[in-house]
Formats: sequence, structure tokens, C-alpha cells
Amino acid sequence: MTSTPYSPKIIVCESDGAAAAIVADLYADLLRDKPAAVLGLATGGTPTATYREFVRRYQQGDVSFARASSFNLDEYVGLSADHPQSFCYFMRQHLFDHVDLSADRANVPSGDAIDADAEARRYEEAIASSGGIDLQLLGIGHNGHIAFNEPGSARNSRTRVVDLTDETIRNNARFFDSIDQVPTTAITMGVGTILEARRIVLLATGADKSEAVAAAAEGSVSEAVPASLLRHHSEVTFVLDRAAASGLRSATG
Ligand code: F6R
Repeated sequence: MTSTPYSPKIIVCESDGAAAAIVADLYADLLRDKPAAVLGLATGGTPTATYREFVRRYQQGDVSFARASSFNLDEYVGLSADHPQSFCYFMRQHLFDHVDLSADRANVPSGDAIDADAEARRYEEAIASSGGIDLQLLGIGHNGHIAFNEPGSARNSRTRVVDLTDETIRNNARFFDSIDQVPTTAITMGVGTILEARRIVLLATGADKSEAVAAAAEGSVSEAVPASLLRHHSEVTFVLDRAAASGLRSATG
């Protein structure tokens, strides 16, 4: 795949807390302009500080999710919404149980659907019927994955069932009692699904993400680094702390 005209806007923050505040500002501004906005959300270690910031602002009366809806990126196949390691449980614990987002508009793929492929198709259609995602939050994997789109994922891929790489399984084992408990497949929004969001914000913190961030922002645009495919989109912002930005040739503050 050849290069494209777009470069992500890059915001480098002094700390991970400052990066979380910037992302929270983007969502708060969106919700003020468009209270019924469709929010794209992520799980993982990176966004937890952002969700703490959402909850704090909600409790202070600065932001309301009452008319909003949300779509999470992904869910493990085989885990029910009540499983403590499911992404649905994570979202309730970190955000949904603490703000006024209506439970029936807080969407996460059903990991325990009898037919996971059908669930993936249903999810893709639900995103389209909602009018599409206004602002999608992403993290980035060490291998450049976005959501569970591992290296080799097609630029036009849609929500589907995928196999997780050994590296991703090893990384995610920290959330489980043992590596054997980490599911090996997941339902994930596709790269093409993500690229249809009106705006995208990729949040990365910590030196261990610096290589993946540099490859995504400045390397070749290639399915080998799924996050680099975000450069097919004109409205992408990378919000980084100094450590995550340390591999960039051209970081601006
Ligand atoms: C989470 C997701 C993943 C993570 C990525 C980074 O919904 O889709 O792509 O964003 O693996 O994870 P953390 O933040 O734990 O480093």
C-alpha cells in the first residue's frame, strides 16, 4: 500500500494524566455540541485514566452522557458480560456504572453469542443504524494493532471474529489468573469500520508504546502495522505522553 496525504495531528503531553485530560476534553466538547453523539470507546490499561476523568467531570456536572450512545471496539469470544475479564465488565466497572449513559445504548459485542459471526454482523449493522461513530477512542498494541486488528488485517475489514496473536495473548494475560484463561478469539470492529468514524483519537502512554507509535505515525502505511492505516483518515489525533512520543522524528507539543 502506498503513502497517503494525511498525517495525524500529534499532541504530546507532560504526563499520562495530562493526556487523559486532553482526551476527556475532546469528548466533553463533542457532547456539548452534540448531546446525542455516538461515542467509540476502548478498553485496556491506557484509557482507564480517561474514564476516571469522564466520571469526575460527570460528578461535577460538567458533562452528561444522558442522550449519547456508545460502541466499544471489541470483546473476547466466549466471555459473558458478567465475566470479570470481559470488556463489558471492564466498561461497567470503569465507566458505565458511574455515569448517566443509558445501559441500552452502551454497546459492547456479546462475547457469549451462540453465533459469534452473526453477532459481528449485527454489531456492524448497529453502528451503521446509529448514524455512525462521531469520535472513536483507540489504544495501540506493541505490534501496531488497533482494536483486535492484528498485523495483516485488511484496510477495508469489517467487524468480525479474529484469532489473537500469541503476543497479544501474552500481553493480555496480565488481566487473567493465567495465560491459559485468555481467550484466543475475539469480535473486533474492522479497520474499515474504524476508518468510518468521523474523528479518531489514538491515546498512547509509556515508552513501551514508542516504537509502535512511531511506526504508525511516520513509517510506511501498511497492513503490517494496522495503526498506520489510520493515515487514510484526515481527522486523526494522536494524544501521547512524552515517553510514547519519544520515537517520533517530528513530535510537536
Ligand atoms: C482495547 C483494544 C486494544 C488496546 C491495545 C492497547 O479495546 O482494542 O487494541 O487498545 O491492546 O492496550 P493497553 O491500553 O492495555 O496497552
